[in-house]
Amino acid sequence: MRAWKCMTWGGPHQLELGNMPNPEPADGEVEITVKACGVNFADLLLISGRYQVRPELPFVPGIEVAGRVTSLGPGVESFKVGDKVAAYVKHGGYADKVVAPVAQVVAIPESIPVADAAAFPVSYGSAELALGRAQLSAGEVVLVGGAAGAVGTACVELAKQRGAVVVACVGDSAKEKVALACGADHIVSSRSRILHKDIQSVVADEIDVIIDPVGGAFFEESLQVLNYGGRVIVLGFASGKIPSLRLNQLLVKHQSILGSSFGLTCVKKPELISSQWARLSELLASGQIKPRISHTRPFTELPGALQMLKDRRVAGRIVLA
Ligand SMILES: NC(=O)c1ccc[n+]([C@@H]2O[C@H](COP(=O)([O-])OP(=O)(O)OC[C@H]3O[C@@H](n4cnc5c(N)ncnc54)[C@H](OP(=O)(O)O)[C@@H]3O)[C@@H](O)[C@H]2O)c1
Repeated sequence: MRAWKCMTWGGPHQLELGNMPNPEPADGEVEITVKACGVNFADLLLISGRYQVRPELPFVPGIEVAGRVTSLGPGVESFKVGDKVAAYVKHGGYADKVVAPVAQVVAIPESIPVADAAAFPVSYGSAELALGRAQLSAGEVVLVGGAAGAVGTACVELAKQRGAVVVACVGDSAKEKVALACGADHIVSSRSRILHKDIQSVVADEIDVIIDPVGGAFFEESLQVLNYGGRVIVLGFASGKIPSLRLNQLLVKHQSILGSSFGLTCVKKPELISSQWARLSELLASGQIKPRISHTRPFTELPGALQMLKDRRVAGRIVLA
């Protein structure tokens, strides 16, 4: 089968397209013939050796796929050959075939285009987990960082589903349009040097929940307008800067900062992810959520697609299909 291989730690253009044997599904795994892959920010971290997990070189990157089940490992009863599915995998997705544990595979309705399916499991799974962790409730004000990113757009849509008021932080006017189309109520610019003042100018009250996939200045600025009892969900550091904090603010304003890890929760609490996915798939099938596909590129153009993501030229998810 064809596969993109990471032979050395580095950037998108160091990946090599080659051939390798098909993977074999082990106990509790299915083989998926991949029709589309979601291109994730985490891929950039993974191939540069800066991700929390460092696979042994060489390895095949790619964490989000959609396609059909083509083989079952021993003991698998929840899927059958031919099922249309999407999956989160630790790596190995940028290939013609990948294997995934059944707990990380979600059934996809036939009516959903395969590109949308490939932009579903990680983005929406991560967003739903983060909002649940924040206990975001109707009427609360949530600030979403990187709100036109793949996880960001999912957070905006799902926060609106919960009845929250959404302030979306984005980098340019094209991304602003995407965040508004997802239902954002207010927009602030990630390029602003006075973000906390901009936030205060669009919402009368302070922010109840901050969803932070960006870190750096976004975290520092937005914390200044976090309400009494406010919660920050740390999702990632797309800015490349991991902020630090003097803890007295949390005490003085009765606030909490929580990390949220979709990947680890898939392993530690698979039943939580399965129940979230079941609910999210119904929203997907009924059109109540709609993955935002920024661009679709052929499988052979992975390095260019990753470079676009790195250059912040993607609004929603870029998909190989
Ligand atoms: N913890 C979890 O469970 C989990 C799960 C999935 C992803 N993540 C993390 O969430 C983050 C977003 O992932 P994603 O796949 O949604 O990525 P994405 O589509 O590229 O979105 C990232 C957003 O971050 C913003 N950003 C701000 N500063 C940036 C910089 N210096 N470089 C690049 N982007 C910058 C960009 O928005 P503007 O250009 O509009 O400012 C961009 O839209 C990543 O850090 C990823 O590792 C965490």
